Amino acid sequence: MNTDSPFRYRNASLFVEDVDLAAIARDHGTPAYVYSRAGIEAAFASFVRASRDRDVLVCYALKANSNLAIVELLARAGAGFDIVSAGELQRVVVAGGEPSKVVFSGVGKSEAEMQLALDAGVRCFNVESESELLRLDRVAGQRKRRAPVSLRVNPDVDAGTHPYISTGLRENKFGIAHDDALSVYRRAAALPNLEVVGIDCHIGSQITSIEPYLAAADKVLELVDALHAEGIALRHIDFGGGLGIRYRDEDPPSAQALLDALFGRLDRHPRGRSYQVLFEFGRSIVGNAGVLLTRVEYIKRNGERRFAIVDAAMNDLMRPALSDAYHGVLPLRQRDDMKAQHFDVVGPVCESGDWLARDRSLAIDEGDLLAIASAGAYGMAMASNYNTRPRAVELLVDGSRAHVIRERESVESLFALERRLP
Ligand code: LLP
Repeated sequence: MNTDSPFRYRNASLFVEDVDLAAIARDHGTPAYVYSRAGIEAAFASFVRASRDRDVLVCYALKANSNLAIVELLARAGAGFDIVSAGELQRVVVAGGEPSKVVFSGVGKSEAEMQLALDAGVRCFNVESESELLRLDRVAGQRKRRAPVSLRVNPDVDAGTHPYISTGLRENKFGIAHDDALSVYRRAAALPNLEVVGIDCHIGSQITSIEPYLAAADKVLELVDALHAEGIALRHIDFGGGLGIRYRDEDPPSAQALLDALFGRLDRHPRGRSYQVLFEFGRSIVGNAGVLLTRVEYIKRNGERRFAIVDAAMNDLMRPALSDAYHGVLPLRQRDDMKAQHFDVVGPVCESGDWLARDRSLAIDEGDLLAIASAGAYGMAMASNYNTRPRAVELLVDGSRAHVIRERESVESLFALERRLP
């Protein structure tokens, strides 16, 4: 746990801000996602501080955690938003965010989504292919609007992260190849219903060093120059998201270190100060501000392995099953009446891939409560109802109070949209 984490032990009990997590488990049951308002606000504020006197818009990537209360919190803090669907746009609007601060990313925008985003007045479409460009021009023409566009260029940079979350290499489905970008920009500039406003890139997620960002920035600035030479003027440069967090022992750069390095690059560029700078951070804003509370149902031994079977599962937090991700496991009460043993922490779902943590040294018994750490990003957002498991309740802690921000699903709600045989 980081020293500035809102999750801390007080007299052997794990607290978030001023709330005992065991009290939340008692009052609301498990599994439960618990977020810290102060944690989210502090993470966002670190980007604002790091922006110094620059013209910067930090767009929160909703996909990391799109709960309305969290979107509202960030909207109030002045965030912009990075969305990838009409649904996410509707969340921003309902939560009081400004569409004029929204960038619309994603490789597969439908016509209906384009219409909705044009009517709402989003700041920019991050376009990922020539076909998408042509479709956007046509849809904008039908709506009698000009669509603001940025091209997502694929800088062919290795973000040095897990293959599932690395997006900036030539072989990925994302973005427009760096070598093709210039010709696609020319095309965009010539289309009547488009307005070229920016350039963007996003090279991956959970990036723990500055170098790949700088390599991508250099590639992007090369293109900016080539465009400038052709009279295609841009207003903004969007460096994407992807800044990593500490799950285990990673040592990612701070917001300040990353932004300073990028601004350093821009300062050496002749027009570097004239562009607004956008970012699309998700994980680094919410990841370490949330945990998943779960209870140990059974302790079981199979041969040499010892299992703690808990009431949360891969449907609640699929990152370990999906990409072998590491999440810390923190008992809500530190026990001194038993010695630690090695456990695999697994869920009740009928899949061998249903595990949350492997080979952890823990002093725990049946009935004990655990917090699965760093679960604020891509936790609830990727949860499913596999095995007809209702999704967990979500709470936001603010000082000494805990607010339910999403009720636990009921089983009835899971089949409310299904129909019996006619
Ligand atoms: N912008 C774009 C275009 C993206 O594709 C993403 C994430 C972001 C911004 C935000 O990236 P962040 O700052 O959160 O790293 N489910 C995976 C992560 C998938 C990330 C997808 N794209 C996981 O659990 O690790």
